[in-house]
This record gives sequence, C-alpha cells and structure tokens, in this order.
Amino acid sequence: MTTRQQFLQHLQTLFLTALLPYWRVSKQTSISKTDREIDTWFRQVTDLYDGLNAGLLSPGQWQEAVDAILTKVPFAELLEAIDFASLRSATTPSDETPKGTRLVFPNLERRSFGQKIMGLKQGSAIIPHGHNGLASAHLIVSGSYRTRTFDRDHQHEESGSMLLSPTLDASLGPGSFITMSEDRDNVHWMIAETEYAYTLSMPITTASQLPIKNPANQNRMVFLDPDRGVSNEQGQMRVPVVTMQDCLARYGTK
Ligand SMILES: [Fe+2]
Repeated sequence: MTTRQQFLQHLQTLFLTALLPYWRVSKQTSISKTDREIDTWFRQVTDLYDGLNAGLLSPGQWQEAVDAILTKVPFAELLEAIDFASLRSATTPSDETPKGTRLVFPNLERRSFGQKIMGLKQGSAIIPHGHNGLASAHLIVSGSYRTRTFDRDHQHEESGSMLLSPTLDASLGPGSFITMSEDRDNVHWMIAETEYAYTLSMPITTASQLPIKNPANQNRMVFLDPDRGVSNEQGQMRVPVVTMQDCLARYGTK
C-alpha cells in the first residue's frame, strides 16, 4: 500500500462519520499515480473547502479534517509549489504593518477559498480577534509565532464582550498550524518571535446560524482586548470587544 493510500485510509478511518457523505459525492478525490504528493494535498485541501462551502461538512467537521490534512503537508514541496522564495521578498514588511500577498494554488481550477501569504516583523502581531461566519487556517511557513487560541462561548456572549476559554499558548514554527471556525478555537492572536515570520492563511466564509451579539467588520473580524479580560472560577475569561484601531494601538506591536 502506498503512502497516499495509507493517508486516505487513515483520513477515512479517523473521520468516517463526518466525511463519508462528502467523499461519496466528491468527484475530485480520484488520484492519479503520476500526481506529485503536493498536487494530491492541494486537491484534498480544496475538496474539504468545497465541502464546507457546499454545506456538506459542518465547520467543526471541516476543521477536524483540515487539521488532519495540514498535519500531513509535504512541507518542502509546498514551499516550492507556491514559490515561497519569491513570495518571501514580496511579503517582507518594511515596518510594523503586516504585509500580505494573495496567491492561488497551482493547477487548481476551482477556488472556493482565499490563499494569502502574510509576513510580519518581529514583535508585530496578528492582533487578537474572533470571526463571525468565517473559518480559516494559518500554516506557519517561516519563522515562529507565539500563538494563542481561545474557544468562544457563543451562548454566553454579550454585546461588547466575549466569554473565552484558552486552548493554546505556544511558540509555533515552520510546518505548525492552527485552524479556526465558529465551532472551535474561534479566537486567535499571533506575535512574530523571529526577525520575520510568515504564514499561509486560507480563509473561507461560512453560513452562520448564530445570533450576532458583536458585529464583525468587512473581513468578518471582531477585535478583542484580552489584557483587560476578567477570569471566572471555571477558567474562562470575559474579554471586552474593541475597535480595530484600539486593538492595533494596544497589540499591533511591542
Ligand atoms: Fe483571523
């Protein structure tokens, strides 16, 4: 059995209940023996995003499956396929403002989601925020980030604040990733720890059934001020919602 077959079997075993209806309807899962591993990976990622876009996967099911696929990314091939050597110079910021460049995965006709390389200077941050009606992944391609994620308790959300539970606080380097959706790890905050640090972000809009207590901006982002959060006995933190300008002023750079 090839590594590719083992991978698919592993994925189907892990997520049989979640993915079976989806894999049945997908026409894109046939894999040629001549495919490079990275082409297969691109196709599998795109299939999962298309599955979410079509409502065949819930955000939580999508997130579990994308986590499994990101774990198996053929990392060196990915950097080569997206020509990261060129993207690095195009996304290296000259100041504390993050610099982004859109890209399209090679050899894919369909495009249900965005792909962007973001570069940050040491001390600059992807400021703390959650998302309404959006799922995403950040794969670190170079450098490292102190990365914090939080679950968002939608049921106990109030206008002007969110109730958060910390789920990760770690230094993540090349090949590491985080994913987020309305179901899990909705809130994230990343600070560049190395001279420059770069992520591949892959966001997709999702249909939200949740009542909107805190409206998002045009990028579906809701900004937060975790330093002013108040913890409760359950280990959760009530965190104020703030404007992007206030969040940037407090967290944009050290
Ligand atoms: Fe985000």
